[in-house]
Formats: sequence, C-alpha cells, structure tokens
Amino acid sequence: MRPSELTEMHFRVLLRRIMFDSLLHPIHAERIAPRAVRFSVTSKAARAALPSFALEREPTEKEHIRASSCRTRPTFSQVEGRQRVTIAHEQGTSYYGTGEVAGPLLRNGRRIVCWNSDHPFYSVDEESLYQSHPWVLAVRADGSAFGVLADTTYRCTVDLTDGILFEADGPPYPVIIIEGDSPQGVLRTLADLTGHMQMPPKWALGFQQCRWSYYPESRVREIADEFRKRRIPCDVIWMDIHYMHGYRIFTFDPEHFPEPKALNDYLHERGFKATWMIDPGVKHDPGYTIYEEGTAGDHWVKTPDGEPYVGDVWPGPCVFPDFTREETAAWWGELYKPFLDTGIDGVWNDMNEPSVFTSPTKLMPEECVHRGMGGDTHDRFHNVYGMLMVRASLAGILKAQPDKRPFLLTRSNYIGGHRYAATWTGDNASTWPHLRMSTPMVLNFGLSGQPFVGPDIGGFGENADATMFGRWVGIGALYPFSRAHTAEGTEDHEPWVFGPETEKTCRVAIERRYRLIPYIYTCFHEAASIGLPIMRPLFFADPADPALRDEDEAFLLGADLLVVTQPHPEPTRTPARPNGNWRKLLLDDVVDPELPELFLRGGAILPVGPLMQFVDEKPLDPLTLVICLDENGEAAGDLYEDAGDGFGFRNGEYRLSRYTAKQEADGVTIQRETVEGEFAVPPRRLHVRVLMDSGELTVDADDNGHPVRVPFA
Ligand code: NOJ
Repeated sequence: MRPSELTEMHFRVLLRRIMFDSLLHPIHAERIAPRAVRFSVTSKAARAALPSFALEREPTEKEHIRASSCRTRPTFSQVEGRQRVTIAHEQGTSYYGTGEVAGPLLRNGRRIVCWNSDHPFYSVDEESLYQSHPWVLAVRADGSAFGVLADTTYRCTVDLTDGILFEADGPPYPVIIIEGDSPQGVLRTLADLTGHMQMPPKWALGFQQCRWSYYPESRVREIADEFRKRRIPCDVIWMDIHYMHGYRIFTFDPEHFPEPKALNDYLHERGFKATWMIDPGVKHDPGYTIYEEGTAGDHWVKTPDGEPYVGDVWPGPCVFPDFTREETAAWWGELYKPFLDTGIDGVWNDMNEPSVFTSPTKLMPEECVHRGMGGDTHDRFHNVYGMLMVRASLAGILKAQPDKRPFLLTRSNYIGGHRYAATWTGDNASTWPHLRMSTPMVLNFGLSGQPFVGPDIGGFGENADATMFGRWVGIGALYPFSRAHTAEGTEDHEPWVFGPETEKTCRVAIERRYRLIPYIYTCFHEAASIGLPIMRPLFFADPADPALRDEDEAFLLGADLLVVTQPHPEPTRTPARPNGNWRKLLLDDVVDPELPELFLRGGAILPVGPLMQFVDEKPLDPLTLVICLDENGEAAGDLYEDAGDGFGFRNGEYRLSRYTAKQEADGVTIQRETVEGEFAVPPRRLHVRVLMDSGELTVDADDNGHPVRVPFA
C-alpha cells in the first residue's frame, strides 16, 4: 500500500467514525459570535442552562451549526452523575487562565476546583481560592489559540493534566469555545461575550495605602500627612473594618471615627480619595437598623427550614442578604446613598464568598436556600454570591452618584464579574514565594478576563523585611491595581518604615508609576474598549515563541513596556526576552538595582507625564514622548485622555491621539493625529526623547499638531 492510499483509507474510516458518533451523540452547537460556538449535550440542556451568569447578555445573533464543522470540539460524558467535558491535548499547546490561581503562569499539569473559598496565606498548589473562572486559554504550538468556558456556577474541577477536562456538579452545562488567530484575539471575543470592564476613575490608577486597620481616624490623617511630607505619591487611603461600630456595616464607630465626613474632607483637601469597606454579613442584632430593615424586608438567605441562616463573621452572629432576589439587591443598593454622602469615594466588598467562621466548611452551607432567580440551594449560587453582591453594590453606588465613575473592589467573584468590580489576590503573606507568585497570579487573572487586579503589596500576613518590601513595591507599582496592605497584628508596612534606603526605593518605584500614568490610563482604555489585559504575559509579544510560554518573572505592561522583575532574595536566572529591538528605558536619573528593569519595544512611542503626588495634581505638561524606532525606522503610540471622572467620554469627550515617528536621512519626524474624540486638550509642551544606538536625541516643542523634527546633529 502506498502512503497516499493509507492516508485516504484512514481518512475514510475517521470520517465514518465521526459521522456515526455524531448520529449517536448529536451535540447541540450554536455560533454565538463570529468565532465562538456554544456546545451543549442536548438542545434541552442548552435551554435549561440559560441565562448564563458569565455572559453579559444572551447573544442575539445565533446560528445553529454542525459540531463536526468546528476545529476544536468538546466530548461530553457523565461520570457519577456529573457532566464531564474533555478536549484532547494537542502537542505543544500551553494552558493558561483558570482565574485566581497561585503558582506559575503556565497551567499545564495543574488541577483546580472552582469553589470560592477563604484560604488565607494560600500555598502554590491551593485548589480553590476566592474566585471562580471555569475558563482555560489554550495557545497552540503555532501561536493560534482557543479558549474554553464551562458555563456553570456549580463546583467545577478544571484538570489540565492531560488536555482540558471540566467536571461539575449540578445539571449539564454548556461549554463555549472561542477560536482566535492569537491569544489576544480569543480574549477580545471573551470580553465581547462576558462584557468589557468599565473605565475607572483615573485616581484609582494611583498608588494606594491600606492596612487592617488604620485606626482611630487620627492614624488615617497621620498616614496621609506622612505621604505628603515625604513626597511619596499616593492617591487613596483605605478604611478597613475597624471604622465600623462593632463591625456593623454601614455604621461608624462613634468614638474612633466620629466624623467620617470631616475625615474624608481632610483627605480630599490633601489630594487623597477614601475607600471604605462593606462586608455582606449583617450583625444579628435586634435594634440595629440594617438588621431590622433586612428582617422586615425578608432579605436573608434561609436554612432549609425557612429560617434566616445565621453564621459568625467579624461582629459575631450574622445574617446574609439573598442577592438573588431583586428586592434584596435593590434594598442593598439603597444603603449606599447615606454612606457615600459622607464623602466616601470608593467601596471595598470583602468576605463575600461568603466566608463564615463557624461553619464546618468556613463557607455558607450548601443546603441554604436562595429564593430569587428561580430559587435554588446555595450550591448553585455559591460561586456567584460575591458577584451578585458587587452587582447590587455597583447599581446602588451608581444610583447614589450618577455622575461619578464608581470604584469597587471585591474579594470574591466569578468569570464576567470584572463588569462590576476590580479585584485583588486575597490574603497573601510577606514571604518571597508570595512575592514570586504575585506576577503570574495577576497575569492569569488578566488571561481570564479580569484586567483590574493586583496583590497586597508587601504581603498581608506576617512581617516583610526591608529588601522584600522594596522589591515588592518596585514590582507592584507596575501592576494594574497598586495597593499596599497588611493584616491586623503585623508591624507597620508603609514605605518609610524600613529605613531610608527602602524608602528611597519605594519613592522612585511609585514615582515611576505616576510618570507612566498617561500610558497606563491608555492601557485601561484599551482594556475597557477592546478587552485586552492591562498586564500581559511575555508570549503576547510572540505567541509562537516557545521560550516565552512559561516566563513569569517578566511581563508586559500594555504592548510596549517590558518589565523584568527580581522576585527572589538573590538573583537566580535571567528571564527570557521577546525578540526585537527592546531598549532599556530610564524614566529618571536614578538607577536602583532593587527596581525592575524597564525596556521599550522597538516601534513604540511611550507617553510619559510629569511627576505628581497624586493623579491629575497638575496638567499633563510637558508631555514626554519616549521613542524606540523599529528596524524600519518607524514607531507609533497612542495616548488616551479624558476628564478622568464622569461619563462625558461616552459622548465623545475624550481624545485618542496617535503619535507616529519616522526616521529620515537627517533626523526623525514626529506627527500627531487625533484618532477619535472631541476632548479639548489645553496647549502644552512636548519633550521628545528618541532612544538610538548612539545614545539619546531630545527636542522640546509645542504639542500643537505640527510635525516635530528631531535632527541627528
Ligand atoms: C479579609 C481581607 O482579605 C483582608 O484584606 C482584610 O484586611 C480583612 N478581611 C479584615 O477586613
């Protein structure tokens, strides 16, 4: 037999097998986006699974197709009453995503269980953390990619030890498979389906300082004053649970936080914003207004006996709002108006797995009963309890302050929950392994559709030492969400407490962030408008390069900035680098070996602002453009600008400018064009830096739309 006959014969056998198989097991498949198909075991199962919590809305343009026409197809089976879905491994495929996961970026060989859990000081192999993203991004050897979403809220195992395997409790669930020419393409479609993050207020991009807790309020003022006195830029001070009266949410401790409005005014006058915490547990306390109102409105999650479920959290026995009920979500939302009227700028929803200290599982029992959304036991709603909470919080915040962009941070969430809140990586610890894993954690969140994320910088549990703290601030100042935090009982963890050397390192690190705010804000705009992560793995620069697939000690901020970190006490290895003309970037005269090294992509123009102590303290003047030409002597870069708050940008009050540079015989010419928007940018100066082999060329000019020339001599 000749090889061609062999191939043909095999092909026929294979075709017959596929046809036979699909007759026996007709998988229901419908195209829900140009490159996304939803597969279900039967059409009945497809209908029963609606509506999806993951998707922003049910797609309107749907087309029934033959599963056999799809490149990547799931296999459905039943194992002990649970639906299993598998996708065979193809040689050279790398797996990512799966949401909030400790350990390395590359997930091949890993197994997790989507079951929102309060696991402080988690290990690299922790099975379940605070959020659930039953989602895998797969990058094939050739750099093309696909993503798989198991559209279930039930407890779901994601096993990547041999291909992709999902196995979930509850009824059969659909899986959505997204194809893309690149991982970026897959994530864009994921965002089209699950929703885009909302543009945050610009101040939320600033550095933020937290501890459990700054208390009493005089301590909050001291911290704020210290930042300004020491000229360390900072935008936000956080109020953790001690501001409450006996841990009763929506109250203020009359002795230690008697005048929240005066405190918020004090912070505002000094250019700070204030974020305050709200937990879901309501103290079981007859006479306490929120408890009485919630009881009168029948708002609590119930036990199977129909009684409100009571479990201990910070205030002792608590009841929990049933956010599946529309009436409850609306009532909860209304609670924010008087709270925010004290001048509160941002809200932090914590403990919303929900975490329950006295339950054997440390979570709400699965047999508890929710009465909204068709009514069901907690096992169906557990993974979306936090997401439903932040949805209700956000609606209330927006209703109370319709002209302000909200900033909401949540600990628990579910895939798609980036529509409502930013997040952080929960209770880490001040240890080198936790510093090491914070970069891959933030990256995998981004690869799971949540762009606005960061860890507790400096570590939450235990005490950091000077070197670790400086390093962590250095790296953390370049994460999308940049907040230092530490637990009750730990020593002070502010940038100045580790001595003058570390203070200097922290100052320079944070100053870098503030100089990069024009670029970072443009990255946020990109995340909000097209769904790309803000912080990206190196392999985004070249998805087919196998050397980049598992690199997680370096990352990309946006597409143009390469950040090479040092998350170990001693140097251990040199991280991989994407090919191309990446040039070392200095944003100031200080070279501090404790800080990550920065490199600018060949072909990029980076917009940089003047140093500020808080976001928009001053106008963006001069605007610095740092230019790194590609091998054709060209470069381009975008700059997004708007009012920084409010919703005018939705009506065109923004400006997206594109700067381009071209090398000619005797110099480089820079041009600006407005790509979109009608935001009036006041006249300003331009400082141009062209990074060349021979050194740096600079020129100062007006940013008035006329071409700017940087001569070689
Ligand atoms: C648990 C959160 O994860 C932590 O960040 C917070 O400080 C404590 N709760 C106290 O509210």
